[in-house]
Amino acid sequence: MYYNVETNNHGLETDPFTALITPRPIGWISTLDAKGVVNLAPYSFFNLVSENPHYVMFSSRGRKDSQRNAEEQGEFVCSLATFSLKNEMLLSSLSHAPEIDEMSFSGLNAAPSGSVGPPRVKESPVALECLHHDTIELPSNEKGGENYSMVIGKVVGIYIDDHAIRDGMVDMGQLRPMAVMGYSAFSSVEPDHIFRITPPKTQS
Ligand SMILES: Cc1cc2nc3c(=O)[nH]c(=O)nc-3n(C[C@H](O)[C@H](O)[C@H](O)COP(=O)(O)O)c2cc1C
Repeated sequence: MYYNVETNNHGLETDPFTALITPRPIGWISTLDAKGVVNLAPYSFFNLVSENPHYVMFSSRGRKDSQRNAEEQGEFVCSLATFSLKNEMLLSSLSHAPEIDEMSFSGLNAAPSGSVGPPRVKESPVALECLHHDTIELPSNEKGGENYSMVIGKVVGIYIDDHAIRDGMVDMGQLRPMAVMGYSAFSSVEPDHIFRITPPKTQS
């Protein structure tokens, strides 16, 4: 099949778009508001966008608290959402009044970050501490429709649980990172689904 995105005439019951780019990692974004209240929410429009320096991004549908706090306070932290933390991750997606600490609401503990103000999720084995770099507005197709905003952060500090390192490398199978698929489906990285391939070298 082929369809034009302007008319979106895919003919399917549900728009397939988010099922076409999977699995998507989940950025579990913690920020502080002006009063120092902790905000936490999962973002599946999330990824690293460069290696050196380390830049990451999350994309917000409408100007949500995470975006506002990241911009106003200049900092955010991305904790790794793992399979064992899936229920807490889902709880943290609920919207709350600004005075509610969403980390403790989700049954999680805050651990201090090394280089930025927002805490990381203590139960999560990995956290990226970021300085807000820029926000790129992605205008809606519809007049008056909700914009997406790509919030870009420069990573300035990284936490890795010592137990997550084996033979000098991060043991991704042990971490079991969560991933978002299409149609409300999720996946996780499992040890027996990880394989290594060495790219072939060009013959000269
Ligand atoms: C798995 C998952 C992924 C999500 N990804 C996004 C996303 O990429 N962008 C977005 O705007 N909302 C996303 N949401 C919804 C937000 O987490 C939700 O709106 C949350 O209340 C935003 O919190 P905040 O206002 O504290 O930033 C996602 C929710 C879940 C459960």
